[in-house]
Amino acid sequence: MSVRPENAQKFAAVWMEVYSKNGTAKDVSAILKIDHRDMMRRRRTTEDFLGKRLPSLGGREPLRHVPQYTQDITVSGTVIVASDLHHWPDHEPFAWFMLVEAVKQYKPVEVWLNGDIFDWSQLRFPRKGWEERPSAMEEMECARDRTQALTKACDKVKAKKRLTMGNHDERFDKYLSLRASEMEGFPGMTFDSQIRNWEQGWEIYHSLMVNGHTMVKHAWHGGVHGAYNNVLRSGVSMVTGHSHKLHARHWSDYRGVRWAIETGFIGEIQGPQFGYGDGNPADWCPGFAVLHFDGEHLDHELIECHGKQARMNGKWWYRDDYPCTRL
Ligand SMILES: [Fe+2]
Repeated sequence: MSVRPENAQKFAAVWMEVYSKNGTAKDVSAILKIDHRDMMRRRRTTEDFLGKRLPSLGGREPLRHVPQYTQDITVSGTVIVASDLHHWPDHEPFAWFMLVEAVKQYKPVEVWLNGDIFDWSQLRFPRKGWEERPSAMEEMECARDRTQALTKACDKVKAKKRLTMGNHDERFDKYLSLRASEMEGFPGMTFDSQIRNWEQGWEIYHSLMVNGHTMVKHAWHGGVHGAYNNVLRSGVSMVTGHSHKLHARHWSDYRGVRWAIETGFIGEIQGPQFGYGDGNPADWCPGFAVLHFDGEHLDHELIECHGKQARMNGKWWYRDDYPCTRL
């Protein structure tokens, strides 16, 4: 039996909305005002049209401890997630080039920047010796101008753009609220308002709960066993940044399989933002993750950038002409 595309899309949207709220098939029938048999028939024709199964309803335990400031969202398809950009004037890393290329290649439904878009190097504790740092304004202009290329790539493939806050991003509001608390409410005094001024359509969040099974936030556990602790203790899959590590930790128990994915960073290990590391080796990796959401399933690819080359989408990418020379 054939189905009109708009009807299939509408049915799938209702189904996924009910799924995201841990609803049942009865809820779908009630919303669409059709009986159970008709509803199941439309489920099958919709699945045939979409070429994939819709997830089972009513089979999951509702999540009981999702923070009130976490945004519940439903996603079906590919998402590119990158974190820890620490944008720095006159220093554009190869991983940034790869991130923009990835959006063009994968045509994701969403792109997430998972915290530390900024470094805000001037807004922290005293500088190290006489090291040179960009001003806050220079960082702002750099981040805004550089993000335009990513925004353009996202808009071309109609990807939704989300940004979650990192500890470095929070420095902006912290700095002003500590030193100019009497100015609260004035235009431009919040990080949020600065990003909106860009008019590039990035929506800002604390954290995201995706399809009821994956928490996306900048940071939780750190250290060598950070990913292990994240996946074990959260009870869901987790996608985090902050550590600058790029890897995935699998955990399997009687309830099924889940993941902790740490998404690397968009920079260079010996980049000028990271002078605090004193040039010591670090277990970091420039790159990002490509996630695939299909109902209750989460799959992933990690895109590692080494110097001026990376492997992505089944082939090698090089940029010998790229200006950066540090690994
Ligand atoms: Fe961070």
